[in-house]
Amino acid sequence: MTLAESHEELLVKTYQPPVNSGRIPSDKKPWITSMDEYNSMYKESLDSPDTFWRKMASELVEFTKPYQQVTSGSLHNGDTQWFVGGELNVSYNCVDRWARDTPDNVAISFEPDAPGGKRTVTFKELLENVCRVAGMFKTLGLKKGDTVAVYMPMIPETAYVLLACTRLGLVHTVVFAGFSATSLADRIKDANASVIVTSDQGLRGGKLIHTKKIVDEAIKLSGDVVKNVIVFERTGASDITYVEGRDVMWGPLFKQQASYIPPVPVGSEDPMFILYTSGSTGKPKGLVHTTAGYLVGAAMTSKYTFDLHIGDVFCCTADIGWITGHTYVVYGPLALGVTSVIFESVPTFPDASRFWQMVDEHKVTQFYTAPTAIRALRRLGDSYINCCDLSTLRIIGTVGEPINPEAWVWYHYVVGDGKAVVVDTYWQSETGSHIITPLPFATPTKPGSATLPMFGIELAILDPADGKELEGNDVTGVLAVKRSWPSMARTIVGDHDRYLSTYMHVYKDVYFTGDGAMRDSDGYYWIKGRVDDVINVSGHRISTAEIESALIVDNNVSESAVIGVEDEITGQAIFAYVTTPKGVVDSEEVKKAMIQTVRKEIGPIATPKRIIIVDELPKTRSGKIIRRVLRKIAAGEEDQLGDLSTLADPSILDVLVKKVRAG
Ligand code: WT7
Repeated sequence: MTLAESHEELLVKTYQPPVNSGRIPSDKKPWITSMDEYNSMYKESLDSPDTFWRKMASELVEFTKPYQQVTSGSLHNGDTQWFVGGELNVSYNCVDRWARDTPDNVAISFEPDAPGGKRTVTFKELLENVCRVAGMFKTLGLKKGDTVAVYMPMIPETAYVLLACTRLGLVHTVVFAGFSATSLADRIKDANASVIVTSDQGLRGGKLIHTKKIVDEAIKLSGDVVKNVIVFERTGASDITYVEGRDVMWGPLFKQQASYIPPVPVGSEDPMFILYTSGSTGKPKGLVHTTAGYLVGAAMTSKYTFDLHIGDVFCCTADIGWITGHTYVVYGPLALGVTSVIFESVPTFPDASRFWQMVDEHKVTQFYTAPTAIRALRRLGDSYINCCDLSTLRIIGTVGEPINPEAWVWYHYVVGDGKAVVVDTYWQSETGSHIITPLPFATPTKPGSATLPMFGIELAILDPADGKELEGNDVTGVLAVKRSWPSMARTIVGDHDRYLSTYMHVYKDVYFTGDGAMRDSDGYYWIKGRVDDVINVSGHRISTAEIESALIVDNNVSESAVIGVEDEITGQAIFAYVTTPKGVVDSEEVKKAMIQTVRKEIGPIATPKRIIIVDELPKTRSGKIIRRVLRKIAAGEEDQLGDLSTLADPSILDVLVKKVRAG
């Protein structure tokens, strides 16, 4: 930290790219080192998109059949295509070509839950493992276009499964192993997955996760969709129940398979995976990503945002069950032949030095995590960092929610020693890859801003009231994208109309992100958070309607209204106001049971931090809950409730405020 600058100055200053940090090895010269280069590439990507994307595709991806056209379709019609008419195989691109060129380089460096057990898998070994899993799928009769559900812990086998799916043109749908049986069942049914891959159990922070048991329950709830379950023996527990004829143990079947199975070429626009995300209504949306565009986007952003070079060790701590894990644990780094670290544990197990021990142990060069983890670790103090050698780090990234400048500055100076550059990357499950991000050795950064658009991304800030584009700088509104880009989701499974109405038809001729944003006087973007009924807890999206539907399953809940409240560590926290049937006593027990219901219905990520039992919810005369009032009261801002003329019964407010204050 420079002595000349006060802490306050550090929070608001502009940071120049640390090209002279002493951390850039001579064989890893940054891809882009000036704003001139960024500007000219960005300009080309918008002015001559065909030329630009042809260059990117040929630099990053091998096609087995050339595409005839770079792109077609429009946002308005929701029929965008990229690399039209081409054929390729994702697994070939991420595995075979590196197994051929750099067979002994490490593809996956595994950091298991219990420290000290690091394991590595070379590209040559990865190819064999992926082929054997593909062999298992073939044995079960799976064919191109079939869907496989994945409910796995963070282990190398999960990456094998994804790559084996793409090897055969199977569509995977990964469900985060923190989701409940009910959530899993909904997704299995919606995606029509005939095979599930899971593990006997999972390990996380020293605790067991009963993955197989949850899968069994989910299958009971999902009718006769699932034909087979493949069970990887993670712990080898003896008390796992196997259903004859349906369940298959990984170990013996894996061994029987051939060590090479040829990749199956698929069309550029063939579906590659489905990933569920929360929207503003109750039912999660199964976003469909297609093959060529997704892979080009994943590879391009991995290369330029993280300045990845062969020989780098990239560590993204996100779970593979989220889009971040898909793009930046599995497909992006491997498409570039770079080592990807798979982290099975949590940041605080066995103590708060775990991330940094891992960086030291694996010699991580690029590290990517969420603001919530940074905030939590910062609070625990710098002593957990001093134990470790973090000097290999060149780039440290964040994703999932806005990062507050305090946390940014701590990340840069304490984790990065003022030498590693912070990249705050903005994107979404829908966008497939980064859409706003600094380029580490070109873009001057400002703490809290995701800075500037990625190549090919044409942004607009709109007036939310009439959708008019707000031109120029120093404007605030909602964030939209004005043209399609290769890695955007193409549809929602079984509901293209919902895709159109959620993203393409909210405003005219643009993709609507659902986020508010400000463009400052330098043209930098500052994301303000969701403008819809979606809460962002620790970087995970969860809809208020989904939690409300879960609460109503509890017999003691008559009606509920869920809101997001600012939280120091998790960004937002879930608050639920509920009304109960007559005779139900407001007690800790009753509230605990309600929380359990939500955890059972959705999973622990949806756990309400607080439940407030009230006599009545504030409603309009037509019966619509006024959430704005509930938000203000929860935030302790009951003196700023604004216009209450639509409120049917203002007398309920005093009681509400008292209840919330009582804690
Ligand atoms: C929402 C997308 C794909 C990233 C992981 C979450 C918020 C994401 C940032 C950022 C401010 C961010 C937005 C977005 N978000 N990254 N760098 N700065 N906000 O993926 O679950 O699809 O959530 O996360 O609100 O819409 P997701």
